[in-house]
Amino acid sequence: MKSSKERSYETICAREWKSPDQFGSHILPLYQSNSFEAKTMEDAIEVFSGRAEGYIYSRYANPTIRALEEKLAVLEGLESGKKCYSLLTSSGMSAISTVCNSILKPGGAILIHPSLYGGTLEYFKTELSRPGHQILQIDLTDARNLKNYLKDGGVKPDLIFIETPTNPGLEILDISALSKCASSHNIPLVVDNTFCTSYLQRPLELGADIVVYSTTKFINGHGNSMGGLIVSTNEELIKKQLWKTMKLTGTNPSPFEAWVIYQGLKTLPLRMNKQCSNAREIAAYLQDKKSKVLKVNYPGLSTHKAYHLAGAQMKQPGSMLSFELDANLEQTIEFCNSLDFSKAPTLGDLDTLVLHPATSSHINITKELRLKTGVSDSLIRLSVGIEDHEDLIYSLEKAFSRAFG
Ligand SMILES: Cc1ncc(COP(=O)(O)O)c(C=O)c1O
Repeated sequence: MKSSKERSYETICAREWKSPDQFGSHILPLYQSNSFEAKTMEDAIEVFSGRAEGYIYSRYANPTIRALEEKLAVLEGLESGKKCYSLLTSSGMSAISTVCNSILKPGGAILIHPSLYGGTLEYFKTELSRPGHQILQIDLTDARNLKNYLKDGGVKPDLIFIETPTNPGLEILDISALSKCASSHNIPLVVDNTFCTSYLQRPLELGADIVVYSTTKFINGHGNSMGGLIVSTNEELIKKQLWKTMKLTGTNPSPFEAWVIYQGLKTLPLRMNKQCSNAREIAAYLQDKKSKVLKVNYPGLSTHKAYHLAGAQMKQPGSMLSFELDANLEQTIEFCNSLDFSKAPTLGDLDTLVLHPATSSHINITKELRLKTGVSDSLIRLSVGIEDHEDLIYSLEKAFSRAFG
């Protein structure tokens, strides 16, 4: 039997975080207030000066936001037993930009694996390079490339940024090998863990320094909020450095969004289990469509290049997959139109979502880089939902008949 301190991920998700209100409400109250009244001017000065913790202004801190931050930090450190600290932001992009704004030195460099969510890639290539930051791109699917680059004395980056699995190619990067190499050169490794959440993968336990999320996706899971999260075991980094950047650049979330995300989080394990099992069924189905599907990208398939690595660093292979049709652009669009899945440009919702990355998330990425990172005109991405998997396969079957005759 577990001791009361050793609650499981599922139990922590489902139960309320300690309710801070005076009436003992069962569900976390929504503190939809931009400021908090101090009892005395002296009390306010203590908080403003940082000598005392407390709530004074919601851009700095808010009890609803804090409850969600604490719960997510506990979940992230659950197995390692290491204390984690977290900071909620207004979106996934603001979590990423807060980390970069805070850590990159003037004229400094960021090293990336170029297969990334299109918005992140566009941010690096446009906004980050504007103030003179260098964007170094290396194929990090082989961790030895990082080792060789750093050994050869190339420009030393201020941070390394990766996603694993990557969006939308579902490549798997070796977090443990990359973090060993990065830390031996004192370079922080930042991992975007949006596709997995801490339920499936815990990059900090594998040696990463910072984890970022779009909570808009699986953590909320219901498609009704925007948010981002930064997590680390480094208290000073989160509570002082990154918090200050968030406070001064206004990348803070709203209490309402935090409250909505907090409600969605309660069912994360249930949703994830069903979504992963549906994704396995769909990946196997697509793999059998050999004459019409050139390639299925899903880390749960034994044909995936990094199947064993995925099995070692992820608890389940996730519910995101992509596949390449043996078709031109028009046929691919027709195929997507024929599916009865939502054509909403997001992921991690309850229902299955279809996306055509070349004309949506990666529309502002050059064709050359797009193709280099596997985002061809016939690549389709699915975020698999919790529906009955037979209904999903029926819809795919109909779309194949319509697009291919
Ligand atoms: C992997 C990944 N990271 C970050 C983001 C950005 O998140 P948000 O839309 O919440 O800013 C996205 C958005 O799709 C994403 O897929």
